[in-house]
Amino acid sequence: MSVKVRKAVFPAAGLGTRFLPATKAQPKEMLPLVDKPLIQYGVEEAVRSGIRNILIVTGRGKTAIEDHFDVSFELEHLLQTRNRPDLLAAVRQISDMIDVAYVRQREALGLGHAVLRAREIVGNEPFAVILADDVIEADPPALRQLLDVWERFQAPVLALMEVPPESIPSYGIVAAEPVEYNGTRDRLFRIHDLVEKPRLEDAPSKLAIIGRYVLTPEIFPAIEEAGPGALGEIQLTDGLRRLLRSSPLYGYRFHGVRYDAGDKLGFLIATVEFALRREDLGGPFRAYLKSLKL
Ligand code: UTP
Repeated sequence: MSVKVRKAVFPAAGLGTRFLPATKAQPKEMLPLVDKPLIQYGVEEAVRSGIRNILIVTGRGKTAIEDHFDVSFELEHLLQTRNRPDLLAAVRQISDMIDVAYVRQREALGLGHAVLRAREIVGNEPFAVILADDVIEADPPALRQLLDVWERFQAPVLALMEVPPESIPSYGIVAAEPVEYNGTRDRLFRIHDLVEKPRLEDAPSKLAIIGRYVLTPEIFPAIEEAGPGALGEIQLTDGLRRLLRSSPLYGYRFHGVRYDAGDKLGFLIATVEFALRREDLGGPFRAYLKSLKL
């Protein structure tokens, strides 16, 4: 019988050094793309993928995230008295849709360490991990695409994307062989090995790991056994390598467009594209961009 994934973990305790000073007092997951913080795009993706139990791993500035998903009586009252049902719906919509819990990562000791902090609340069931600074526009949502693979194979699965050679040293890269899935052999891969940020000449492929995962609880002891890796950080990639000894691991090259919103240029690109797609802003914003003498 197939086991359903009910919980999604959002690690949001990184230092966000690429975005300092904006991330000095608030997590980068709260940076807004047009008018919504990055983490809300991720949470909406989880909800659209059928998951409403959300666990956020917080670090510094955690109150901003907690307040965002909490009910704000004062604000709601004000919007009511000012007769702004549109804004009221916008602030209420997301907190109405989810059940959210928080766990603290006191020190930013790495993504693997952040995932370990979820252990108690996740318990003995499969779970999803979403890195909210990877914003993915896709239909069906990228996480849903991974969950479909999970439901077929009942094995952990990671999101993959082909990256250009010059970007390879910035990613976790997989060694993998294609697997027949839905009539094609260019989407699903069985992973044999993973390398974190390899030099171009050492990279086993151009397939990079992107911030969506479906994992089983076996990942927790695997992360612990792997211990600290590069720069003393407890890396998820090292835990996944360890997991390979006892479990099959799949990678899915998802359909959709991914924005690296944890990086300044990626964030600007995402901002422009999301603004252009908006009904209320797209027209005037496009006209403004066209007027620029570039
Ligand atoms: P990044 O590798 O992007 O690191 O983390 P970072 O610290 O957030 O940002 P930079 O590179 O310094 O600018 C990937 C994801 O893992 C989370 C981050 O919040 C982000 O969602 N993370 C990372 C943690 O929750 N804890 C950590 O110790 C490290």
